[in-house]
Amino acid sequence: MAQRPFSPVFLTFGLILAACGGPAAGTSNQENSVQIQSTNPESSRTASAIQEATRSEPAPAPQAAELSPEFADLPAPYSEASYATGKRVFKLCSTCHTVTEDGPNTIGPNLYQIFGRQVGSAEGFNYSNAVKDADFIWSPEQLDQWLENPREFLPGNRMTFQGVRKPADRTAVIAYLMAETGWEAGQ
Ligand code: HEC
Repeated sequence: MAQRPFSPVFLTFGLILAACGGPAAGTSNQENSVQIQSTNPESSRTASAIQEATRSEPAPAPQAAELSPEFADLPAPYSEASYATGKRVFKLCSTCHTVTEDGPNTIGPNLYQIFGRQVGSAEGFNYSNAVKDADFIWSPEQLDQWLENPREFLPGNRMTFQGVRKPADRTAVIAYLMAETGWEAGQ
């Protein structure tokens, strides 16, 4: 009983909607879509260009800032170390070591061309027996071990230095020495 009077009302309502809403919605949609087509492509292209620019600019920037050009010729991980950090950490060493060609021995031996050099062979420096008795050639890896814990690496040596405990600092100071003291590939 309740369905009969409702269904014609529903149908009529539907027809009215279709008659009024249909064409009106069609024209306004068309207008809108014309507007969208005429204005949006440019603005969206500009927007996406800006987005791309802002997206691609900061991405390589930090990488370039992280890589120190001074270390560009070194093998990894030294090529990825920070020159500024290496220079800062080397200040600890410079109390006792010079690194320049013909630099003097001071408290410690001159470290020019330390890589590829026989341990304990700086001319004119009076090494401890521990260093004199050692027999190896300095490589970045050997230096890494020496600097991690100088006392344990060669017990009885006279380098009164606690070492460089932070691995990143060690890598950076070794890279600094490689760049400053004439390291060559293979050493
Ligand atoms: C307090 C002084 C002092 C400091 C600081 C110091 N050294 Fe030394 N270093 C010495 C002395 C002294 C020797 C010689 C040790 C011996 O004969 O037992 C030496 C030896 C060395 C050697 C061996 C050289 C060779 O001819 O075989 C290397 C390499 C070295 N030091 C690197 C470093 C680095 C790199 C740093 C900084 C991270 C550093 N040292 C900090 C005093 C120092």
